[in-house]
Amino acid sequence: MIDESEFRRVIGHFATGVSVVTSCRADGSACGLTVSAVSALSLHPTLVLVCVDRQSQTHGWMEGAGYYAVNVLEEGRGETLARRFSAGGAEEKFRGTAWRPERTGAPVLDEALAWMDCRVTAALPGGDHTIFVGEVLAADAREGTPLLYYRGGYGRFES
Ligand SMILES: Cc1cc2nc3c(=O)[nH]c(=O)nc-3n(C[C@H](O)[C@H](O)[C@H](O)COP(=O)(O)O)c2cc1C
Repeated sequence: MIDESEFRRVIGHFATGVSVVTSCRADGSACGLTVSAVSALSLHPTLVLVCVDRQSQTHGWMEGAGYYAVNVLEEGRGETLARRFSAGGAEEKFRGTAWRPERTGAPVLDEALAWMDCRVTAALPGGDHTIFVGEVLAADAREGTPLLYYRGGYGRFES
């Protein structure tokens, strides 16, 4: 076993994209949080997974809804969204941010660089997180530059 701070330091060297995972509360209102733990899982069927802290507010709402959308963020404006969706209450998170419900009902942000609308097919235990496996029912992407996260800071991809 290594301690938590050492684990954070080392895993921070794994550069990731940044997404906002959205879902709906029982009253139908939108909820979401900033997530870096997203991965493609399967092609047949098309599955993605997201890892969500069981302590987060959004966790229970995702379990209840049974669906979520992965909104991949773009550099620039995406950093503002990443900061807002990793802090603050549910109402402030969506303020001034246009979105629409997709096929499952999950909110898709107009500003997303790419998005995947998913139906939860499994919620697996993963320590203090839950691994939500989702079947991708609809998805799209556009041209742009992704927002990246590395060693605790935001950055951009240079090709
Ligand atoms: C760059 C970044 C990546 C994050 N990745 C995750 C993640 O993969 N899973 C997770 O549960 N929280 C992640 N978080 C933390 C949540 O966004 C944060 O705890 C948020 O406040 C939870 O919101 P909620 O309690 O309203 O659901 C990340 C935060 C940042 C800034």
